[in-house]
Amino acid sequence: MINTPRNEQELNNMISQPSEQLVDFMRSLSGDISILGANGKIGLSLSLMAKRAIEMANVEKKVYAISRFSSEEGRQLLEGHGISTIACDLNDREQVKALPKTENVIFMAGRKFGTEGSEPYTWAMNVLMPAVCAEHYKDSRIVAFSTGCVYPLVSKDTGGSVETDHPEPIGEYSQSCLGRERVFEYYSLINKTPVLLFRLNYSTDLRYGVLCDIAKKIWNDEPVVTDCAYFNISWQGDVNNYTLLSLGQCASPASYLNITGPEILSVAEAAKEMAAIMGKKAIIECTATDKSYLNNADKSFRLFGKPLVTAKELIRMQAEWIMQGGKELNIPTHFEVGDGKF
Ligand SMILES: NC(=O)c1ccc[n+]([C@@H]2O[C@H](COP(=O)([O-])OP(=O)(O)OC[C@H]3O[C@@H](n4cnc5c(N)ncnc54)[C@H](OP(=O)(O)O)[C@@H]3O)[C@@H](O)[C@H]2O)c1
Repeated sequence: MINTPRNEQELNNMISQPSEQLVDFMRSLSGDISILGANGKIGLSLSLMAKRAIEMANVEKKVYAISRFSSEEGRQLLEGHGISTIACDLNDREQVKALPKTENVIFMAGRKFGTEGSEPYTWAMNVLMPAVCAEHYKDSRIVAFSTGCVYPLVSKDTGGSVETDHPEPIGEYSQSCLGRERVFEYYSLINKTPVLLFRLNYSTDLRYGVLCDIAKKIWNDEPVVTDCAYFNISWQGDVNNYTLLSLGQCASPASYLNITGPEILSVAEAAKEMAAIMGKKAIIECTATDKSYLNNADKSFRLFGKPLVTAKELIRMQAEWIMQGGKELNIPTHFEVGDGKF
């Protein structure tokens, strides 16, 4: 059984723990690594994991963590671990030109929340910014973060969308994410840049994520109201391992990879399980059709193996984290949204 972390330091340590597979991979990967959008929910622990894997592999390699660093806290965390940080607005061509060109790039800057009502900004962030970065890093291999929301909502019986399914994004956020993919695909074609489009569905690190959203409602005796009856999740530590391993799978034309856990979870069942641990009652108001955002990540399991942490363990850890007053980022995933309006 995995112990629930007692504080943020233990949590950060868990989600930045490289797998043996990743440490081996670092020995074969040539070049330095730039992480664009490093000051975000995933980027911080991903940068820490990259650094730890390099040290454990005993190889010479730099990690550049790049973001605007609109909050200093993340920058201090990274620098405290010996990671070089560079403040840069990736929308600004001149600033991007000054960035060191590295063989490996992970692109994770983007915008989701607040799309409704300020669509032009979302499109600029999710489509123009990738173009600026893809031009600058045309000789790199690039893992570009995308989302499972480029697929349509599907019924649980399908087992989830697969990479060969045609994207049919609902709403402007998801459409702009498909735009981001197309821009990377375009540059991959014209410049022969090896690219992997990393279609992630709901990372979970206890401070945020679908389970955190549900657990908070239960703990506060509020109803869980949702349009989507089912969901997929993946532990942030597994997501981070898969991200770095994906540098070995970049290709031109660009390849696609779904990233999530193997379980299709029911909102109602997960809520009841967490309520039982908390000694609370789950109140579910499900307006759902039988369709939800669901990804099938079998391809990633064939490439890298299954996640090291199961959904069952995540459900228990999430309930315990909330009960012990663990930190929350207060950034809801909006997993419950079925009309694409985030
Ligand atoms: N988390 C998930 O479960 C999930 C699920 C599906 C897809 N994704 C995708 O995965 C990517 C990473 O996710 P995340 O949750 O870590 O996102 P996030 O928390 O929004 O982090 C992205 C970071 O990018 C930086 N950034 C934004 N605009 C920038 C700019 N113009 N120049 C430089 N840096 C900029 C921001 O930090 P600064 O303010 O410091 O610049 C921000 O914190 C996103 O593209 C997201 O759409 C995430």
